[in-house]
Amino acid sequence: MSHNLLKNKKGLIFGALDNKSIAWKVAELVKAEGGEIILTNAPVALRMGEINKLGDELDSPVIPADATNISELETLVQGALDHFKGKFDFVLHSIGMSLNVRKKRHYTNQNHEWTKKGWDISALSFHKLLQVLYEKDALNQWGSIVALTYIAAQRTFPNYNDMADNKAYLESIARSFGYFFGKNKKVRINTISQSPTRTTAGQGVEGLENFLNFSEKTSPLGNASAFECAQYVVSLFSDYTRKVTMQNLFHDGGFSTTGVGQEIIEDF
Ligand SMILES: NC(=O)c1ccc[n+]([C@@H]2O[C@H](COP(=O)([O-])OP(=O)(O)OC[C@H]3O[C@@H](n4cnc5c(N)ncnc54)[C@H](O)[C@@H]3O)[C@@H](O)[C@H]2O)c1
Repeated sequence: MSHNLLKNKKGLIFGALDNKSIAWKVAELVKAEGGEIILTNAPVALRMGEINKLGDELDSPVIPADATNISELETLVQGALDHFKGKFDFVLHSIGMSLNVRKKRHYTNQNHEWTKKGWDISALSFHKLLQVLYEKDALNQWGSIVALTYIAAQRTFPNYNDMADNKAYLESIARSFGYFFGKNKKVRINTISQSPTRTTAGQGVEGLENFLNFSEKTSPLGNASAFECAQYVVSLFSDYTRKVTMQNLFHDGGFSTTGVGQEIIEDF
């Protein structure tokens, strides 16, 4: 059931790879709530993923951009300004990748070239994107920018590897740039710290299935699904959250504030 929460709002969605992607669910829900979107992903993901199918389904353009490349980001943002015939209202950064995770290099034995690459994709890309949006003055007042993160930024989860450090950096950018975007553009920036979710990026983390069960049993409300994450993102894009900014918002069924679930104690 649509509430038309995003009627007359337009924006950019990064990171829809396939129908498991959180960004895919966000794209579908934003459209259902009356918003207009442009989809974007890295050129390689356009070739390998199914984003063009989503673009057709939602009648939305797909513009490729490697989020680590400033000139591709500039072309994308200019393309969005042209397509929307002016400024737009929301942006989702739903991007993450660690070569150390993917190639099973332990945290204590990283290949630091891979670490730099993963940091560029997963964390610095957010600053690059924000800087391009800021310089091009691309967002309407009371616009909203959201990036996705994970609680490994605050607490240690051994298998999350260098992504933990990337997420800590990403969350810090949301606060630091959030100040300037708030002060000078009246635009808000937040990160959503999502439950573990079965997606391509999520499945890269070793032992994800066991971990999903552990997380499910720890969280009083259970894990949040990708669709529920999309609902939360839509609320942050809507006018009902205009004064929420520079926050890391846990969307995790209560995981972040639970010490241990009763079922887990009983399992022992
Ligand atoms: N799945 C989980 O358990 C979980 C939990 C919390 C947070 N998150 C975060 O949610 C976000 C989305 O991940 P997902 O789980 O939907 O997985 P996903 O694999 O579907 O999405 C990751 C996306 O990043 C894109 N990407 C990679 N390199 C890029 C580049 N250079 N330029 C542009 N895009 C690039 C990929 O093409 C892909 O679309 C990520 O930030 C992830 O860390 C995921």
